[in-house]
Amino acid sequence: MAVALNPHDSALALAGMDEAVFARWVALLERRTGVVVAPQRKPFLVSAVRARMREVGYGNFMQYFEHISAPGAGAVEWATLVDRLTVHETRFFRHMPSFDLIRERWLPERLGNGIGALHAWSVGCASGEEAWSLAMVLHHGLLGHGGKVHFGVTASDVSSAAVATARAAIYPRGRIEEVPALYRAKYVEMRGEEAFTPIASLRKRVAFARVNLLQAAAAPLQRLNLIFCQNVLMYFARERRRELLDGLAGLLEPQGLLLIGPGEVTSWSHPALTRVAWQGTLAYQRRD
Ligand SMILES: C[S@@+](CC[C@H](N)C(=O)[O-])C[C@H]1O[C@@H](n2cnc3c(N)ncnc32)[C@H](O)[C@@H]1O
Repeated sequence: MAVALNPHDSALALAGMDEAVFARWVALLERRTGVVVAPQRKPFLVSAVRARMREVGYGNFMQYFEHISAPGAGAVEWATLVDRLTVHETRFFRHMPSFDLIRERWLPERLGNGIGALHAWSVGCASGEEAWSLAMVLHHGLLGHGGKVHFGVTASDVSSAAVATARAAIYPRGRIEEVPALYRAKYVEMRGEEAFTPIASLRKRVAFARVNLLQAAAAPLQRLNLIFCQNVLMYFARERRRELLDGLAGLLEPQGLLLIGPGEVTSWSHPALTRVAWQGTLAYQRRD
């Protein structure tokens, strides 16, 4: 239960987080999300937790930690807090070489091999821009195939608030320039004067879910043709990144493509995957 303090007590109690308490918060976050908070990011963690504690009336980091660690109400509160403790920075077409690889090589090859359906996954979609970009590239690449190739994109994130924003898909007008002109002309429309949104035919191709990458094996996601996992693993410990990539490799269909952010993992390989040579990308394709 929340402990409401008067503002004076609260300010005193919240003045600092000692190293032992910080270590417990770091361990909890890593255990539940995989995200590692380095010592130099302590101010970020402290201010995010402190802001949330003020909102719910807690005056002591350890008391709030105990609340959040408990099942039931703690799980509900955790769902809100996790959104504050994760970084959601993203853009449409953020990593253009990855989209070029899909558009110029991978998709034409799949179509040449007579693929009948495509299922893509944006693993840490934040506010959705990556998933919408993927949907635009796939929709456009499949034009001319007479609707014979069905495609869908699943967009997921550990943060339910991020997933809700991605699903709402209302973006400020100023960011429309991130969408290349070709796709902008076809796949987005204005919502009033100040916002834009993907068109309805694109919306029906994208499904949203809260999925924790640490529990991806339990999610109903299998036989994927494309997995986009960019700017997510960089927040995880190196050894954990390899384990998670092994898991993602197991979800790919033959010829399926895994796209990671360049530099997010070094010297990882998987017996069923081949590294794809495409400038500026870190991509792996599953063999038959
Ligand atoms: C910096 S954003 C990257 C967004 C997008 N992929 C891009 O490259 O622009 C990282 C996202 O990963 C999500 N994330 C962190 N830990 C996660 C986990 N264990 N499972 C799923 N998503 C996670 C965060 O909530 C955040 O929205």
